[in-house]
Amino acid sequence: MSMAGVTTSVENNILIARIENPPVNALSHTVRGGLIAAVDQLNSDETLDAMVLAGTARGFSAGADVTEFGAAMKAPKLGEVVARLENSEKPVVAAIHGFALGGGLEVALSCHYRIADSDAKLGLPEVTLGILPGAGGCVRLPRLIGAEAALAMITSGRPIAAKAALQSGLVDRLADENVDEVARGFAADLVESNAGVRRICDIDPTPVVPEILAQERKRLTRRYPGQIAPQMAVDLVEMVLTEPFETAIAKEAETCKALVGSDQSRALRYLFAAERLAQKPEGIAPDTIQRSIRRVGIIGPGTMGCGIAIASLDAGFDVILVGRSQDALQKAEAAIDKTYGGAVKRGKLTEDAVAARKRNLTFAPDLSTLKTADLVIETISEDPQAKKDVIGAIDALVRADTIIASNTSFLDVEWLADCTSRPENFVGMHFFNPANLMKLVENIRTARAAPDVLATITGFARKLGKLPVMVGRSEGFVANRMLSKRTREALFLLQDGATPQQVDRVLTEFGFPIGPFALADMAGLDVLAATREARYAGMAERERACDIIETLVAEGRLGRKTGAGYYRYGDDGKPTPDPEFASLLAAHRARIGATSREISDDEVRERCLFAMINEGAKILEEGGATRASDIDVIWARGMGFPAWRGGPMHYADTVGLADVLAALEKYAGLVGEDFFAPAQLIKTRVVKGEGLTSQAPAAQRNTKRDELV
Ligand code: 3HC
Repeated sequence: MSMAGVTTSVENNILIARIENPPVNALSHTVRGGLIAAVDQLNSDETLDAMVLAGTARGFSAGADVTEFGAAMKAPKLGEVVARLENSEKPVVAAIHGFALGGGLEVALSCHYRIADSDAKLGLPEVTLGILPGAGGCVRLPRLIGAEAALAMITSGRPIAAKAALQSGLVDRLADENVDEVARGFAADLVESNAGVRRICDIDPTPVVPEILAQERKRLTRRYPGQIAPQMAVDLVEMVLTEPFETAIAKEAETCKALVGSDQSRALRYLFAAERLAQKPEGIAPDTIQRSIRRVGIIGPGTMGCGIAIASLDAGFDVILVGRSQDALQKAEAAIDKTYGGAVKRGKLTEDAVAARKRNLTFAPDLSTLKTADLVIETISEDPQAKKDVIGAIDALVRADTIIASNTSFLDVEWLADCTSRPENFVGMHFFNPANLMKLVENIRTARAAPDVLATITGFARKLGKLPVMVGRSEGFVANRMLSKRTREALFLLQDGATPQQVDRVLTEFGFPIGPFALADMAGLDVLAATREARYAGMAERERACDIIETLVAEGRLGRKTGAGYYRYGDDGKPTPDPEFASLLAAHRARIGATSREISDDEVRERCLFAMINEGAKILEEGGATRASDIDVIWARGMGFPAWRGGPMHYADTVGLADVLAALEKYAGLVGEDFFAPAQLIKTRVVKGEGLTSQAPAAQRNTKRDELV
């Protein structure tokens, strides 16, 4: 029998109900209705003895349907579904394969027994959407596995493996193969032995000492500063341990409902959709056939080249790493061995796995070995002529259909494409250092790149486990171009009277993991001075005169590595304010005739963030990115912008774009037109009453009608 969203069949008096809602069996309205109908069938048909509830295709269920969040939830709500399952008079066994996440796990918890495939993952990721489990997860899980283990799952949002779920008591049995069959056998045994139902609501929760909850609150404040949902999880679990079951269920639902309407949840849900949308670059049909990539050539055995090589080897590709000298190649091999050695030590990889990866790696002193490569990525230094020469040489050598990618961080990709005979097969791929660890990749399209080439590099980056975002031609692309505006403003603020510690404090309080000056000290001021030098010709006079970095480098203050930069560093490596820097800054101000004034925290925040937002808007209007949400994904997932604020473009809309415009105009007067003249796009959108992200799909936008359980 088939009910929308759930299908049922009967085998030996056992009802088999399957959630069928591709691609991830989200618990949409039809599925919820189907689940209620299945419980009704089980309890009204006297010939039925038990039910097995299973998923289909990739998993059991990924939880509540996030596309339904923007509107009032239609009955039956999930809370009712899980109550009906739990209160069934006949036993219900969940057969979990793939994943049981969020509401999916809550459904499984309302079943009387749980069998999981040994590869399955079980979790409550609601916190990553700025909410908390709202259909009994916070109430049932602590009763089943204890408050501490439950709290760890709820506050981290990280799924656990089936084996750990078995150990904690979350599941009753593992199935190495065919979990449905094992669950059917389990259900038959229950019937045979008259075991009956076993409801989690009948278990009394075990209390925990208050100190544990207090410690957890402190840990979460440090780990997730500014985020409300993790803290509220502790309050909820504390409440659940003392209140009667029904009261706890009602309070949990209330909390979840309140969180769904919060700005933080809106921002995180927006990002969830934005991240997935970014995987479908505009103008490329989703069914575009990707080219086959098996062998990857990488030119340049430096840190970047080695990082990309490791990421490619980890993903199972053959890699040819090309360097100009044996010495450079030996150093590259030592660096790769060191990384893999560390992974073995930490138990992440076995010696055999490393050996297998190394068998797929060839070191080559010249380009001729690249003839068999399907994709070649050059990672040499950002010297335009050198890049052009290498790309031309690769072009002359490799197959006509080989894709050539430049790992450039700011060069003009159209200009680079011109030095090939295959502009349709040429792209940019901007990895971030260290490339084996950093998830973000800016894939750069040229106007001439073929759609299947763009689809292929998106797919390739995903296979490396990266988060690729397609951007367009623009100096510094999205991440570095916007970052350079924040850096500029941070330096101007020093000139105007702020201190590094004030600027860093304001931005870390905003939610960045590290402030711009501590970050600069970490990166190395000599490295940043070289980048500044490369941009010198295009700088405005005020920016050129703001040569604080050059002064520090001349003083030998290169940042952390020399024990001093914007800050001083002791043996513990922690930054402390440095009077010597204060004197250098005072001398700098005197030299350029700058007068120092009291700077408010609001001014620091607005100048740093609005300069970035304004640049983001300019990037959009110039076609350097096709969607505001892509910019947000880059910043929130790759550049430390607090995800719970949704990214800079979403943040601008939260502040109110008209207010952002007014502030830009104010700072244009104060700092200079050159720096704060508002982007035309912002002006246009304000006139139309739109925001920067208001052209995002409806599912990403937010209404005040959010309701969930
Ligand atoms: N609702 C609706 N659509 C969902 C969804 C959900 N819960 N989870 C995933 N999808 C959609 C994605 O948007 C994507 O759609 P698209 O193809 O149109 O872009 C498609 O399913 C495939 O998803 P992914 O691209 O993410 O596929 P992956 O294979 O990379 O990952 C997954 C699969 C691990 C299930 C991942 O999608 C995931 O983590 N999903 C979210 C799980 C989650 O957060 N659940 C909690 C929901 S809130 C809740 O349950 C509240 C409750 O407590 C009341």
